[in-house]
Amino acid sequence: MAAMRLRTEMPDEKNIVWHPHKVTRAHRETLNGHKGALLWFTGLSGSGKSTVAGALEQTLYSMGIRTYLIDGDNMRHGLCSDLGFSDDDRQENIRRVGEVAKLMVDAGLVVLTAFISPYRDGRKQIREMFDLARFIEVFVDTPLAICEARDPKGLYKRARSGVLQKFTGIDAVFEVPEQPDIHLNGQDLIKNSIAKLLYLLRDQKIISLEIQKKLF
Ligand code: ADX
Repeated sequence: MAAMRLRTEMPDEKNIVWHPHKVTRAHRETLNGHKGALLWFTGLSGSGKSTVAGALEQTLYSMGIRTYLIDGDNMRHGLCSDLGFSDDDRQENIRRVGEVAKLMVDAGLVVLTAFISPYRDGRKQIREMFDLARFIEVFVDTPLAICEARDPKGLYKRARSGVLQKFTGIDAVFEVPEQPDIHLNGQDLIKNSIAKLLYLLRDQKIISLEIQKKLF
């Protein structure tokens, strides 16, 4: 469970004023030659989120695009290591990732996050933190039966046997995205998913055709 944070002041009583700095996101984007954006991958454990996000990052890197991939399992080793899988902890997990991703997008990066992020509300809250075209919700849609058959970490087996509780898809909810920006079939070939994602990034004017031509 998340440790209680001790606060002596509430945020609206802090007398804190935002400091606008001289070097802005626009400057950094000009330097980079592409825009900053967040690709938010959501889906069941074992759906292929990290795999597709990783493959996309490799592709973008080879085009000279500045990226950073934030992976759920990895974050839970560090910034979110105090969090478990209760509803509150998952919400806090997603909130932290959203804030970190926001800074990275402000730094001009194309950020990819791979988190189950099971709640519609939580994903909506992240979306609302970003300008329209800069947030792309990517649903990696793989049926539970397939994820369970893949079971790369043996966690579904543990969840079915009751050793592991509140496991998403088994005894914890996954709220399917109703209107993701892109809906990927998690059983599709990776190269097809990458092509769709690149098309969207170009369509949203995050990357230019010139950049993409560097690869193709
Ligand atoms: S989220 O629900 O808070 O978005 P997150 O993506 O960070 O989850 O972490 C999911 C990963 O943690 C899974 O891929 C799996 O490896 C591991 N995990 C451990 N316990 C659970 C659980 N009870 N439910 C889901 N995933 C779990």
